[in-house]
Amino acid sequence: MAKTVTISELRVDQRLQDEAFSLKEFEKKVSRQGKYYYNILLGDKTGEIRGKLWSENVDSSLESLTAGEIVSISGFIQEYAGKPQIIVEKINIVTNMAPEEFLPVTSRDRSKMQEDLESAMNAVSNPYLKQIIDLFWKTDSNRDSYVNFPAGMYVHHGYVGGLLEHVWEMWQLSQPFLNIYANLDKDLYFTGLFFHDVGKLEELNIVGATIVMTTEGSLNGHIAQGVLKVQSLIDQVPDFPTDLKSKLFHLILSHQGHLEYGSPVKPMMVEAMILSMVDSNSADMNQATKHIEKQVDTEDDFTDYHKQLGRSLYKGS
Ligand SMILES: [Fe+2]
Ligand SMILES: [Fe+2]
Repeated sequence: MAKTVTISELRVDQRLQDEAFSLKEFEKKVSRQGKYYYNILLGDKTGEIRGKLWSENVDSSLESLTAGEIVSISGFIQEYAGKPQIIVEKINIVTNMAPEEFLPVTSRDRSKMQEDLESAMNAVSNPYLKQIIDLFWKTDSNRDSYVNFPAGMYVHHGYVGGLLEHVWEMWQLSQPFLNIYANLDKDLYFTGLFFHDVGKLEELNIVGATIVMTTEGSLNGHIAQGVLKVQSLIDQVPDFPTDLKSKLFHLILSHQGHLEYGSPVKPMMVEAMILSMVDSNSADMNQATKHIEKQVDTEDDFTDYHKQLGRSLYKGS
């Protein structure tokens, strides 16, 4: 089965015949007339679209449909509250398509970003830090996850390659600080930056065509999991200095900048201050630019209100 149309190409009144999407939400509702229907959210690489499905169009074998599955849809596009939505006439589960077809992917070049980070890794001269970086990066499964994983579910960089892109952006944003403040511990800084979100590899997972939070992620969070991961690497390096370990942990633990943002300590070293600043720069800029991109075709000069950023954004006419 091949995909013939993407969500960004859908237009009002367009008809769809057995078109594949990922099912992101599937919620049973009851109308005022007492009829059952489903509110659904469909996705692919290019975006998301809401839809409605009346229960007579769902056979009983599909009652247990869950978010994350890939489905084929027949129906048509209608305008609802100023936005397109799909009226679904037929829905079936699809089992023969790769999930990557439906997940959004970074728009930056993954091999170039990887190359840039690898040259920064090669420049680390502290032998202890170099060893933990190598132990991590030379393990194929770690490297594969690191370059393919998202950095989040919704908030920022929530797509394939998002973690790599986030870390790469932070490294680019760090360069002026490293040039201006010559006494920074560059090896420690880079290592902290490289590992700051490594806990996301345990916190998140890609299941079916959806990015999900793991049980460990919900219970422990990526900051604690990152520290545990780095501890497991340090355990493999004889005589890893205790003070170096404390400083590296401090960079990871304080990277969210504030206690109310989930960090157990505030940044108390200059390297940690820069790390938390560029972390929030990369996250905010990603949210702002993606939010504008999504709404570029709407008539308004301003975007919808963005909850995390606490504002609408001006996108010009
Ligand atoms: Fe983080
Ligand atoms: Fe981060």
